[in-house]
Amino acid sequence: MSHSSHSHDTPPPEEFREHDDFNIREVHGAIMREKSEPRDAFAPIPLWVIAVFMALLIWGASYLVYYSGGFKSTVFNRYQPAWGAEALASAPKGPVDPMVLGKRVFTANCAACHQPTGLGVPGAFPPLAGSEWVVSGDWHGDNHLVRVVLHGLQGPIDVEGKPFNGVMPPWQQLKDAEIAAVLTYIRNEWGNSAPPVSAEQVAKIRAETAGHPQPFTEADLKAIPAEKFEAAPAAAPEGTTPPAASPAPATPAETAPKA
Ligand code: HEC
Repeated sequence: MSHSSHSHDTPPPEEFREHDDFNIREVHGAIMREKSEPRDAFAPIPLWVIAVFMALLIWGASYLVYYSGGFKSTVFNRYQPAWGAEALASAPKGPVDPMVLGKRVFTANCAACHQPTGLGVPGAFPPLAGSEWVVSGDWHGDNHLVRVVLHGLQGPIDVEGKPFNGVMPPWQQLKDAEIAAVLTYIRNEWGNSAPPVSAEQVAKIRAETAGHPQPFTEADLKAIPAEKFEAAPAAAPEGTTPPAASPAPATPAETAPKA
């Protein structure tokens, strides 16, 4: 009895106690952390995972069907689902705004020299903002402007009273509608204000000048009587009757001599 009570009451020597204490915590900790051994068995995919997956699949498919616009490149109508031909027919398909297309053409082809501000680079690239070449002031005509862009311009010229002597490359590779749009744009941007130019007018001058070998010079152009284009009726979408042509607003600048 005295022996056992002795073993209870008397603590083990210091170094054993430390050792036991340390070991037990470590071992328990390790057991708590460890996962059970992997077993060779078939673990089915949890039902909820399948349910979530199916729900996502259905949502994705209906989203695509609802908002894809029938995968037609011409459709963009955020609020209208396109289910087929009728929906497509009712989608807006008005003419492209020449100011929007024109800005795009300008940024891609002209801005590098004439600058996004239309102010050009002094001594190198003449300004388009306020230019008599652009808005058909002085002796300049709309017909000259179309020639400049179709075939380019070289040699000494005056723009807004300042001399330039460079070479502008031709832009025949642009479509009639693109040239019409870029001209309409530069005539109505940066404070400029002049009637729009139509694709038909560009096509006419393209045909007239088809054989022109190199960029025009100021002298070439001056020899061609200035023409002011009639304001073209707004391009109408196919299959609709164009609105009645409204006459160009008569401004004093428009009373220049006609060919
Ligand atoms: C590589 C530079 C360059 C590019 C790109 C360029 N131009 Fe020009 N442009 C010139 C130069 C240089 C002149 C003057 C030519 C001369 O001195 O005979 C000029 C002259 C003009 C003129 C007549 C003068 C004036 O400033 O009003 C117009 C209009 C014009 N460019 C429009 C355009 C349009 C529109 C585009 C794009 C489709 C374009 N240019 C692209 C260099 C360029």
